[in-house]
Amino acid sequence: MDMIDPRDDTVAYLNGEFLPLSKARISPLDRGFIFGDGVYEVIPVYSRRVFRLEDHLQRLDNSLAGIRLPNPHRHPQWTQIIRELVRRSPHEDQSLYLQVTRGVAKRDHAFPKDTAPTVFLMTNALSVPTPEAVDSGVAAVTLLDNRWLRCDLKTVALLPNVLLRQQALDAGAVEAVLLRDGFLTEGAASNIFAVKDGVLLIPPKSHLILPGITYDVILELAHKHGIRCEIREVSEAEVRSAQELWLSSSTREVLAITRLDGKAVGDGRPGPLFQRMYALFQEFKAEVRRAPEPKAHA
Ligand code: PDD
Repeated sequence: MDMIDPRDDTVAYLNGEFLPLSKARISPLDRGFIFGDGVYEVIPVYSRRVFRLEDHLQRLDNSLAGIRLPNPHRHPQWTQIIRELVRRSPHEDQSLYLQVTRGVAKRDHAFPKDTAPTVFLMTNALSVPTPEAVDSGVAAVTLLDNRWLRCDLKTVALLPNVLLRQQALDAGAVEAVLLRDGFLTEGAASNIFAVKDGVLLIPPKSHLILPGITYDVILELAHKHGIRCEIREVSEAEVRSAQELWLSSSTREVLAITRLDGKAVGDGRPGPLFQRMYALFQEFKAEVRRAPEPKAHA
C-alpha cells in the first residue's frame, strides 16, 4: 500500500535516481531512521531560482563535518542534482528538502565502515505565510530550550524541536521562542529577532542556534538600508519588553510575533521596523525572480 496521498506526490531523488516520491523506498536499517543520524537542508526556490544555494551548500558542509560524515558530492554535483529536481517539478515556487544520512547498516551506534550515505531530496510547492499572518502577526510562547549543545548543526534528530513546536501549537501559538539560561536562543524552527528602542537585537551565531540563511539575509538588508542592529545576547527581560519580535525561516520568510505568552507584543500589531523589513525582503525576492535563468544541465 502506498502511504503517500496522490495529491502530495512530488518529484524526488534517491541515491542517484530521480523518481516520484511515492516510489522512493529506503531500508528500515537506514541510520537516519534508526538513530536520526543525518543532516538536512530546506531551500526555497522562487520562479525556479534556487535561493542562496551556495550558502545552503556551505551550511550542509558544516553540518556534515559536525557529524563526521564525508560529503558524498561536491558543490557542482549538488547544484546539478538540485537544478534537475527543480526543473522536473511542476511548481514555479518550491520548498526543496535535502537529506543525507549515514546510510544503511546493521544496528550499532558505532559508525559503520564502507557504508554509502543515503542521499534523498524532494521538492514541494512553496507555501509562504498567508496575507492574514503577515498583516496581523502570529502568536508565540516562551519555552525553555532543552536541546543539545550543537544547535548550529542542521541534523534530522529533531525530536526536541518537534516537542517544543507541538507544545506551542497546543497553547494556540505557532512558534516556541526558546530561552536558555535567561537568554533568547531561537525558535523551535526559526530564528528570532527583537526590537528595542528602534534597534534590531540579533542573537549572535553560536553552537546554541542554527545559522539561518534568512537570518543572514535580514542582517544584510538591515545593514544595506541603515537599520540599526546590535548582534548580542538578548535577555529574557528584553524579549518580554520588546517593542517588536520577529521570526524568520526559509519557509516563513519574516513574520511578526504579535502575542507572546498571551500578551500583546508592543501594541499587538506588526511594528514599523517589521513592515520595513518585510517590504525589503519582498523586494529582494523579486530581484531573485528576475535573475537570469540558470543554465540547463544535460
Ligand atoms: N528550519 N532555527 C531552526 C531551529 C530551524 O529549524 C530553522 C529552519 C531556522 C531558520 O533557518 P533558515 O532561515 O535557513 O531556514 C532556524 C527549516 C525551515 C525546517 O526545519 O523546516
